Amino acid sequence: MIENNVDTAFFHSWFRNYVKSFYTEDPKIQQNIRLKEEHTLRVCKEILRLGKALNLNKNALRLAETIALFHDIGRFEQFKTYGTFNDRMSENHATLGLKVLKATNILSRLTKTEQTIVYNAIEDHNVRKVPDNADEISEQHSKLIRDADKLDIWYVVTNYYTERHRHRNPALELELPDTPEYSLCFIDDILNNRVSNSHYLKTFNDMKLLQLGWIFDINFTPTFLYIQERRIIEKIITALPDTDDIRKIHNHLKKYLENRISEL
Ligand SMILES: [Fe+2]
Repeated sequence: MIENNVDTAFFHSWFRNYVKSFYTEDPKIQQNIRLKEEHTLRVCKEILRLGKALNLNKNALRLAETIALFHDIGRFEQFKTYGTFNDRMSENHATLGLKVLKATNILSRLTKTEQTIVYNAIEDHNVRKVPDNADEISEQHSKLIRDADKLDIWYVVTNYYTERHRHRNPALELELPDTPEYSLCFIDDILNNRVSNSHYLKTFNDMKLLQLGWIFDINFTPTFLYIQERRIIEKIITALPDTDDIRKIHNHLKKYLENRISEL
């Protein structure tokens, strides 16, 4: 067990140094490097909280934390090279992350099986749907990182939507135009309990709708409870225009969440 803690501490210190190598005097870049650094550290906490709520053993928790620590490791290189977090305008940050991990061989102190689980979970953390050919342990870890990651993105964006008038960050808007419009396909997806395809994003409002629809991709009951406690749905809805469509999806999402929680 002591060994395990040493591993996690070692990984954390490697991560800190790695990220520091991207620090710059340019405040616009620095802000976004720090954004992903802080996001990563919060996702580590989210995944541990979720894992404990699910009664995972120490070893599974250690592996989950390692995945959380490295899941966005490609973001730093991505922002440095392309100046954007938009994968479609640059490259897939999960694939980029795997390249970084493999080139540095940082995971070599894990067993081969553990390395495969970490690589798979990182590779799958941003795909629209987890492939169902994975073994049970890999699948569980992919699901954990996906829930923990979404919880923190919701935290980041809901804060951003209330602070935005004071301080804008185009990287957090995927450079999408902020017009009153939204695309009806995103409304339709929500009413049919479907996660939307980011390919169809046209406006900043579409992005908010896409983020609401992630609720249909949540895997564990404690995550639904966190969504309710933190009032995620309400906070995103407030940032959208007040129309019949939006009121309709608000009701739909509220009912969906209540149902998922009552399954407890
Ligand atoms: Fe992330």
